[in-house]
Amino acid sequence: MQLLSTVNAVRQYVAAARRQQQSIGLVPTMGYLHEGHLSLARKAREQNDIVIMSIFVNPTQFGPGEDLERYPRALERDRELAAATGVDAIFAPAVPEMYPDGYATYVRVEGITEYLCGASRPGHFEGVATVVSKLFNIVQPDRAYFGLKDYQQAQVIKRMVIDLNIPVEIVTVPTVREADGLALSSRNKYLTPVQRQSATALYQALKKGAVLIRSGERRAEIVREAMVAEILSRPETRVDYVAVSDAQTLKPITTINKGKVLLALAVWVGNTRLIDNLTVEVADNVAHHDEEQATPG
Ligand code: PAF
Repeated sequence: MQLLSTVNAVRQYVAAARRQQQSIGLVPTMGYLHEGHLSLARKAREQNDIVIMSIFVNPTQFGPGEDLERYPRALERDRELAAATGVDAIFAPAVPEMYPDGYATYVRVEGITEYLCGASRPGHFEGVATVVSKLFNIVQPDRAYFGLKDYQQAQVIKRMVIDLNIPVEIVTVPTVREADGLALSSRNKYLTPVQRQSATALYQALKKGAVLIRSGERRAEIVREAMVAEILSRPETRVDYVAVSDAQTLKPITTINKGKVLLALAVWVGNTRLIDNLTVEVADNVAHHDEEQATPG
C-alpha cells in the first residue's frame, strides 16, 4: 500500500491508474479508523479497481473551542487497518499541503446547512464542503463513500456535487453500531466507562421515537419530548438538539406525514458531543424505520 502526502504524488498515482483504465473509489476520513470507516473501504473495494483513502483532520471544519487539538490520531495503526481492508493508497497530507499560505476559497452549501449540526456548529459544513471538494479535485474519483451516521454531511455533499457539476457518484453506507446500539465514532474514545454507558441513550432515544411514530403518533413534539426524556434519564448527558425533520430538506416538522422522516440528535455526554440518526418511512397508517443495520462482524 502506498502512503502519499502531497497533491502531486496523488496526481501521479491517479494518472498511472487512469492510463490502465482503472476506476477509482475515494474514502475520505479523518483517521483513527474504526469499523465504520472500514465498511466504507470494503464497499469501495467491491465497486472500484483502486481504493484511495484520505486521512486528514481538517481544521476548517472545527469551530473555536472544539476538539481539533485533541482529536485522536494514529497513522501507523490506520495504515495497518487500511492495508488489511484492501486500500491501495492513503493520502495523508499535512495541513499546509491543503491550506497553504494565502488560502482564501471556501464552498458554502445553503439551505440544508441551516438546521441540525449546521445550526449548532456554525461554519462546520463550509469546512467539510471545502475539504471534500478539494479532495474530489485532487483525486478525481469515480465514486466517493460516506457513512450515514453523518446523515446531514452526506446530504450536503450530494447537494454540492449536483450544484457544482462534480462528476463523482456519492455512495452512502449504513451506520455501524456496537452491540448495544452505540454508533461507532472516533470520539467514543473520549468517554469514561460511566459516559460510555450513558451514550447508549442516543440509539435508545432514536428507537423510542421510531416506535412512537410506528404506533401512530403524528405530533413531532410528542416524539421529540420522549426522545429528550430518554436522554436526560442518563448521567452526564445534555441535549444539543433533538429533531424530527423532513429527511430531504432537513427542516424540522410539526406534523408527521407520509414520507421519509429523519430523527436526528446531538448529545453532550460529559465533554464529548455525539451524534446519531434514524430515518423512518411513514406510509399512510404504518411506519417502519428503514435504516439497514450493520454491526461489526
Ligand atoms: O466525516 C468525516 O470524517 C469528515 O467530515 C470528512 C468527510 C472526512 C471531511 O473532513
